[in-house]
Amino acid sequence: MPPFPSSLLNPRLSFSLKPLFLFIQSSIAPLQFPVPRQLISAKPRNFSSLASVQSSAIDNGGSSSGGGGGRSGALSPPPVAEEFQRIDVNPPKGTRDFPPEDMRLRNWLFNHFREVSRLFGFEEVDYPVLESEALFIRKAGEEIRDQLYCFEDRGNRRVALRPELTPSLARLVIQKGKSLSLPLKWFAVGQCWRYERMTRGRRREHYQWNMDILGVPEVTAEAELISSIVTFFKRIGISESDVGFKVSSRKVLQEVLRCYSVPENLFGKVCIVIDKIEKIPIDEIKRELKATGLSEEAIEELLQVLSIKSLTKLEEILGGSGEAIADLKQLFLLAEKFGYSEWIQFDASVVRGLAYYTGIVFEGFDREGKLRAICGGGRYDRLLSTFGGDDIPACGFGFGDAVIVELLKEKGLLPELSLEVDNIVCALDYDLQGVAATVATKLRGKGQSVDLVLESKPLKWVFKRAARANAERLILVGNTEWQKGMVGVKILSSGEQYEIKLDELE
Ligand code: HAM
Repeated sequence: MPPFPSSLLNPRLSFSLKPLFLFIQSSIAPLQFPVPRQLISAKPRNFSSLASVQSSAIDNGGSSSGGGGGRSGALSPPPVAEEFQRIDVNPPKGTRDFPPEDMRLRNWLFNHFREVSRLFGFEEVDYPVLESEALFIRKAGEEIRDQLYCFEDRGNRRVALRPELTPSLARLVIQKGKSLSLPLKWFAVGQCWRYERMTRGRRREHYQWNMDILGVPEVTAEAELISSIVTFFKRIGISESDVGFKVSSRKVLQEVLRCYSVPENLFGKVCIVIDKIEKIPIDEIKRELKATGLSEEAIEELLQVLSIKSLTKLEEILGGSGEAIADLKQLFLLAEKFGYSEWIQFDASVVRGLAYYTGIVFEGFDREGKLRAICGGGRYDRLLSTFGGDDIPACGFGFGDAVIVELLKEKGLLPELSLEVDNIVCALDYDLQGVAATVATKLRGKGQSVDLVLESKPLKWVFKRAARANAERLILVGNTEWQKGMVGVKILSSGEQYEIKLDELE
């Protein structure tokens, strides 16, 4: 619908004004100026139907869209809700607000993620939260696919909120191609979205710390990654008596499947079923394995191997010559050298729920068994070719922000993080606000934080504020002192008070 009925325009003016109206129309649309009531739809429409309704309306409108099709939909405003609609003040189910106290905890955690990554020489990267849906669609029937937040955008493209970071990393590595010098050591801390059944520590939105190494085929890379997680745990006060890592290799499964001539392309599917071993009844697991095409004999053998918790026992069954045993032995040897042997244990049942892993896989768990996996990762040497790129040996891990906080709570290890400001600066007279601003600017220039009192407030209020902010000093700008070019200082911890010249204030 055009903004003004064209019949109301003077025909002579309409020619020259048309471009102007088109300009106004396109520039006001995204600003959502009040819309006449009759244009308000009582029921908001869903995204995909909205996109198609709007693009056809614009196409019918003719010239203004500058070409029909999906792209023009991007210019249309979203549906306008009823005015003064009472909203639910809670965030959508499974998502979180971060008020200041929660943000302090989040920053504390992320600072440790970043600091550990820095200690290991990794570079920080990030990707868009919104990615093409195709990036996350793999054929193996992973749970993550059913949990996608996906929709059609206004340009009719299928997009998804990322449920994990690894496919985005693969995309960027393929895009950068030969310009990258290997090995890459990249880390990221980003928000991921999964429409998950909510349990303790599992949410619909979470942040993940990822560290990935690309270009190193040796197990030294996995050993280095586990070392970085151990370093993180130690920094936040978690020890090997609180958590451990279950480690295995998907090559164990591969060797068993090869013995039964199971085709390679079934491998991913079998891993996804095996990953559910602790979540669903064993008969259901057997039924699902059978459905992938495995014989009953192969299933029995597989389940037997998966129950093994000792590397020596595995070696007895598989023989000592295979890659699985060699990789795992090497990892345990390196763990000794890194000094974290007591943190890791072999457990053949760990296969992980993502289709792309090809070698060593590991999961961090709490020893009391109260929580879901704290972190997880592994080797994924063939992910890039599934996106049409050249494969590069790769491994990495994801570490969520939710389970770890539950664990810290459980152990009484949550840090006490309070607001901390160096100075409260307050003018005792409204006319001295300018001077107080000068004092604040001077201190901030020296790197000190200042909460400047911006209104006229009684001293009692200012003291309360200083206590809440755990301020070190209260700096008062009063008439008598200022006439001498001085300000009053009170050290809040000791109660010491003095006057000082503004120039000498440090
Ligand atoms: P993942 O096991 O799916 O692996 O997730 C890694 C970690 O993210 C989990 O161990 C958990 O800490 C956290 N996490 C996952 N889903 C949720 C959720 N719904 N709520 C809270 N936390 C969650 C991956 O995502 C792989 N891309 C990791 C990786 C990186 N592998 C190689 N490089």
